[in-house]
Amino acid sequence: MHRVREAPAQSAPAPLPGTLAHDALTGLSAQPKRLPSKYFYDTRGSRLFEQIMRLPGYYPTRVEAALLRTHAEALLAEAAPGDAPIELLELGCGDGSKTLTLCRAWLKAGATLVYRPMDISPQALDRLGARMARQLPLLPVRPLCGDYFQTWPIPQAHRRQVALFLGSNLGNFTDAEAHRFLRRVRVHLRPGDSLVLGLDLRKDPHTVLAAYDDPEGVTAAFNLNLLTRLNRELGMDFVPDAFRHYASYCPLQGVARSYLVSQAQQTVHSRVLGRAFDFLAGEVIHTEQSQKYERAGVQAMVEACGFAMGAWFEDRALPYALVVCRAE
Ligand SMILES: C[S@@+](CC[C@H](N)C(=O)[O-])C[C@H]1O[C@@H](n2cnc3c(N)ncnc32)[C@H](O)[C@@H]1O
Repeated sequence: MHRVREAPAQSAPAPLPGTLAHDALTGLSAQPKRLPSKYFYDTRGSRLFEQIMRLPGYYPTRVEAALLRTHAEALLAEAAPGDAPIELLELGCGDGSKTLTLCRAWLKAGATLVYRPMDISPQALDRLGARMARQLPLLPVRPLCGDYFQTWPIPQAHRRQVALFLGSNLGNFTDAEAHRFLRRVRVHLRPGDSLVLGLDLRKDPHTVLAAYDDPEGVTAAFNLNLLTRLNRELGMDFVPDAFRHYASYCPLQGVARSYLVSQAQQTVHSRVLGRAFDFLAGEVIHTEQSQKYERAGVQAMVEACGFAMGAWFEDRALPYALVVCRAE
């Protein structure tokens, strides 16, 4: 089956690995086609994700926020025992709304805290900085714009680092990527530092699926916005209406997946890549996966990556966990 063609009049230099151009070229040339979920978060995508977090069916944000509120002091004692000053480094912070509550509680409990939100989206960091300044003016905030696979702040000798990775973002990685990510974090942390993971756990498949397929259509708009981004940044001519959002959940693997489904046979071109990509009617682009975890699997994974598993705070009604991983 012929799926990728050279566009006749154009030739473009090979894009650099790690760029949108490279990942789009590789992903749209693959079989099945795929696009990395990290490209969802342009200005519109970040705003749509904030709307998703407020949807009734999107339980992860609500449940995680409640766990952070309920266990804030216990988390402080587990993740940063003693009274050393703390650098709280949030990886992929997004709007940081849940962390605001945590920071407030930690300051109230007497912690000396610097908050370092890190994100690839400068817009998300700008909005978060403004909100923190308004709502928690006494908290020092030092944002860091970058990719958490490439950037890490230089640790300060007198500060304990606590890395936060919330929203079950680890579940967006493949198993190999999750291990690579955890090993990388572990390399940067010093003994006594820790990583706090927010992880979605296996539960009723209907509940999981509803979180990725809202009747309001916000998740569909979020998914389709990826095509609008490719049009803008890679000179592509996707017609978003010619694709449809599709979500699935496999309870055997514990994986939710999102796709964009081509509604017709069509060819899409990129001026920047100098390429054309053919789609069959019904062909999919895989855009996101969300792994749902079990405790034993989490323990095996974090230990394989050099952490000792510490406290586990779980919501039993809608299974979700905050896990303290200690660098020892
Ligand atoms: C699903 S949102 C979650 C935000 C937040 N952690 C939460 O729980 O609400 C993912 C965030 O991670 C950011 N992100 C995705 N890939 C990233 C990367 N490789 N490096 C840094 N940030 C990234 C996105 O820009 C987005 O703001």
